[in-house]
Amino acid sequence: MKRALVLYWSNTGNTEKVASAIKEGLEAAGVNVTLKRTTEADDVDYFNYDLVCVGAPSIQWHPPKQVTEFLLKKFKEYHKQEKIKTGAPKVPGKHALMFCTYSGPHTGLREAKPVGLYMGQFFEHIGFTVVDEWYILSEFVGNEERSTKGRMGDIRGKPTNEELQKIRMDAEKLASRL
Ligand SMILES: Cc1cc2nc3c(=O)[nH]c(=O)nc-3n(C[C@H](O)[C@H](O)[C@H](O)COP(=O)(O)O)c2cc1C
Repeated sequence: MKRALVLYWSNTGNTEKVASAIKEGLEAAGVNVTLKRTTEADDVDYFNYDLVCVGAPSIQWHPPKQVTEFLLKKFKEYHKQEKIKTGAPKVPGKHALMFCTYSGPHTGLREAKPVGLYMGQFFEHIGFTVVDEWYILSEFVGNEERSTKGRMGDIRGKPTNEELQKIRMDAEKLASRL
């Protein structure tokens, strides 16, 4: 049975919803999934999994500092274990998926891309193959102006149940690539 780890950080719940949908989709495909907040994941070893999914919101078009700190700490551990090699040779069978929820009030999707790309680098550097980056438009909870008048229009209620269902199905499909 393939094993996946879904790690996430979430303040207002959007990223958590997406993390759960990914878990459910992977499980529907028969994958054994561990779901954890980054704050509970100090002891995880990415290499124990066939797929590591990491999710975070865009905060000032960066990952939240808690997520950056988490990723850097793990990176230092792998550095000590000499797993960061020049040329970043691929480790067969190791995959990663980045997902980022964002509201894009000012410049849209471009506020989220740096998050997915930056987080993915921590995995490519240890030889994982980043299979994809998913960007999920989400309500700016607690900020009506940014949920209705931003670049992306009226985003209240996002991600919707239909959008979460699509994420489940995409995760299920992704499992077949492991
Ligand atoms: C302090 C703060 C800063 C944010 N900065 C951005 C941003 O730069 N770009 C963006 O697209 N969304 C931004 N957002 C919106 C969040 O990324 C978005 O609502 C996300 O889905 C929240 O995830 P969560 O509910 O899992 O915490 C910001 C939200 C907060 C609270």
